[in-house]
Amino acid sequence: MLVTCRARVVAVAGHLPERVLTNAMLEDMVDTCDEWITSRTGIRERHIAAPGTSVSDLLLPAAQRCLERAEIEADQLDGIIVGTITPDHVIPATGNVLQHKLKASRAWAFDLINACNGFIAALSCAASWIESGRAQRILVCGADVMSSLVDYQDRETCILFGDGAGCVVVEAGTADGPGIIDLLMGSDGSGAANLCVPASGSAEPINGEVLSQRRQFLHQDGQVVFKHAVRRMAEAADELMQRLHLTGDDIDLLVPHQANRRIIEPTARRLGIGMDKVIMNLELCGNTTGATIPLALNDAWQEGRLTDGCRVMLVAFGGGFAWGSCYLVWGRGT
Ligand code: COA
Repeated sequence: MLVTCRARVVAVAGHLPERVLTNAMLEDMVDTCDEWITSRTGIRERHIAAPGTSVSDLLLPAAQRCLERAEIEADQLDGIIVGTITPDHVIPATGNVLQHKLKASRAWAFDLINACNGFIAALSCAASWIESGRAQRILVCGADVMSSLVDYQDRETCILFGDGAGCVVVEAGTADGPGIIDLLMGSDGSGAANLCVPASGSAEPINGEVLSQRRQFLHQDGQVVFKHAVRRMAEAADELMQRLHLTGDDIDLLVPHQANRRIIEPTARRLGIGMDKVIMNLELCGNTTGATIPLALNDAWQEGRLTDGCRVMLVAFGGGFAWGSCYLVWGRGT
């Protein structure tokens, strides 16, 4: 696509709640064991927010740190987009709450629901705002308090998820400089029932029966989701790489959605990208839904692996089904 202005990603930060829930602790809560969880998923522990902690609470320190790293003030932001499935409230949008807490006085703000693809979907919106010239600087967030949506009596789902928040600053740059080169997204709503929260929306408002059947919590057919994830994650990144005539050698870092080690490894293999180039944080964070990619980007940045000019492929798959991939060159350039 011909753009006169490229959306460049110039800073990242993340925040995890302090409390850690290990596989051993889960053994005391449901009929599971560390060996099963580790071998089936690669997850050893996850962070869980203290009761009453909201998504905007987790996002605020990440956002403040991110602005510092980008060397901009909150009132220089034109917009805030939050990809989340566990907003503080139905109304107002969590973005509005964060905008106020952050004192981002000039920024518009909204939330976006796209489950595990929420961060890439938010990034795609920010890129369009910036490429069209309608915004100069946007804070793009991915954050979830999954512990508010997970049924800790359901061993098939409660072992997978954790809480966390991450964000990036996206700003206008020159058309031939670094930034978001291309992205794609896809959707297959026929898979909706395989990964969903049946009740609490307009289709099935909360009532006593809903609560007694625990339909306010996340439900998943793990095997169906797993099969689609393995296929779609690889296809989404592969299609983008083919469109851009890239091979695995052209990618410095693959930052995939962190759902399961057994989904990430075949994805990297199919793309011809060695595991030494893959950023993984699921062992210590589990699946933090909207936060997995910015948290993994933050890890890469903190380890000194995400430097100016780094060629990065992001890819995600999740509830919807929904998926996306994004190829970007990191930083402001010289
Ligand atoms: N501890 C111990 N045993 C468990 C268990 C747990 N926490 N959860 C399920 N089991 C049991 C099952 O009941 C089943 O028992 P059975 O054979 O007696 O019926 C057995 O383990 C095997 O279950 P299965 O579903 O075949 O395991 P799996 O290899 O498919 O792994 C997941 C399960 C959930 C880890 C895997 O399907 C997965 O990762 N799916 C994708 C999930 C995901 O990423 N979702 C987020 C959106 S991207």
